[in-house]
Amino acid sequence: MRSIVIATLLLPLTLAGVLPRAGKIDYNGYKVLRLSLKDKSAEVEAQIEALAAHVLNPGKSANLDVVVSPKDVDAVSALAVKTTVINENVGAALEEEGGLSVYAVPSEAWFTAYHAYADHTNFLTDLQGSFTAQSEIITAGASVAGRPLTGIHIWGSGGKGSKPAVLFHGNVHAREWITSKTAEYMAWQLLTKYSTNTTVKALVDKFDFYIMPVVNPDGFVYSQTNDRLWRKNRQTVSGNSCVGRDINRNWPYKWEVTGGASTDPCSETFKGRAAGDAPENKGLVAQVNALRDLRGISLYIDFHSYGQYILWPYGYDCNLRTPNDADHRRLATNAAAAIRAVYGTTYTIGPACATLYATTGDSTDYTDVPGNSTYSYTYEVRDTGRYGFTLPANQIQPTVRETWEGVVSMLKAA
Ligand SMILES: *[C@@H]1O[C@H](CO)[C@@H](O)[C@H](O)[C@H]1NC(C)=O
Ligand SMILES: *[C@@H]1O[C@H](CO)[C@@H](O)[C@H](O)[C@H]1NC(C)=O
Ligand SMILES: [Zn+2]
Repeated sequence: MRSIVIATLLLPLTLAGVLPRAGKIDYNGYKVLRLSLKDKSAEVEAQIEALAAHVLNPGKSANLDVVVSPKDVDAVSALAVKTTVINENVGAALEEEGGLSVYAVPSEAWFTAYHAYADHTNFLTDLQGSFTAQSEIITAGASVAGRPLTGIHIWGSGGKGSKPAVLFHGNVHAREWITSKTAEYMAWQLLTKYSTNTTVKALVDKFDFYIMPVVNPDGFVYSQTNDRLWRKNRQTVSGNSCVGRDINRNWPYKWEVTGGASTDPCSETFKGRAAGDAPENKGLVAQVNALRDLRGISLYIDFHSYGQYILWPYGYDCNLRTPNDADHRRLATNAAAAIRAVYGTTYTIGPACATLYATTGDSTDYTDVPGNSTYSYTYEVRDTGRYGFTLPANQIQPTVRETWEGVVSMLKAA
């Protein structure tokens, strides 16, 4: 009797492309389509977003990249002027990504595979445990589900809290797994090279580093257990069945400006009901404000993927420039050159809205103005779309190494 009930329940789920095991979405057969739209119509975009499993580049103007189940390919294509299939089978790409590996003690092998969230916490505490005289574990509030937003604070010869802050955030968007590895590599390099590399020592002695590899732990866990392509946090919305706020559209600065986020709870870029109403944002805002008030913030970097961009404020206005726009451009130009020198990876740089698309309530606009950070950047690391969010494990090390050189060049100049 019991098995019959289960069998009838599973059948429609399987047909809908959902694996019965643990309710995880099976992306086998799903395609990534690049859609050219006739004109940028919010209505057509909403129709597409409703049909698609995910929009990979929400807010982007020219082309929309969407993940679509086989049964919806025709309906979605009908809404576009031109459709190009850029990935025939998302499930196959996920296999190439390499799955999750078992955690061992901290070593550079950490950067050769992806890992479960609990292991990211283990990695950070083990790393800190090896350098207790110049690091501590820090938290910045907690997620919707109560997971502490965890990071590491690193200092040099001046002692704890004596220098201007450098703040790195990773994995704010759950599916961007390469970005927690990137933030962790910054911490790894700063601590393990401090005693042997004079460049690194000078940087650690110049700043207090605050590195938060996973600022969206609930979304990250959900992307590992249920939906590999999940982006937002896991906050419910009263009166609506859709879940999740986009943490990078919820920061309480120019949040109310229209055109750079969605008011629809089902959208990938849902901004929330009020400025800063995501618990994760409350913790991160308090962190930025505290560092501003302590010694000031010299450099903030929010690591995202994908696209290979280095962007700076503003996101909310395409015509406005920061007072030190030329300095932002100089540091980004040098960072892009430093990245390119490692493996030839090319980056596009520029003010965010003018270069990529409008975003409101984003992190770098907040750190630039209320946070008073001298420099604020968004890095969109590898790649440019071939693998997108599911970058194969064998690209983790090249990505974090080249990004490190870009960040080092910024730290020298900041
Ligand atoms: C020290 O680290 C910097 C930054 O990664 C690197 O460019 C330099 O080659 C390293 N120096 C030595 C001697 O390894
Ligand atoms: C902002 O930062 C500058 C240094 O870059 C500092 O001189 C100024 O006092 C700061 N302002 C506030 C309001 O914190
Ligand atoms: Zn992102």
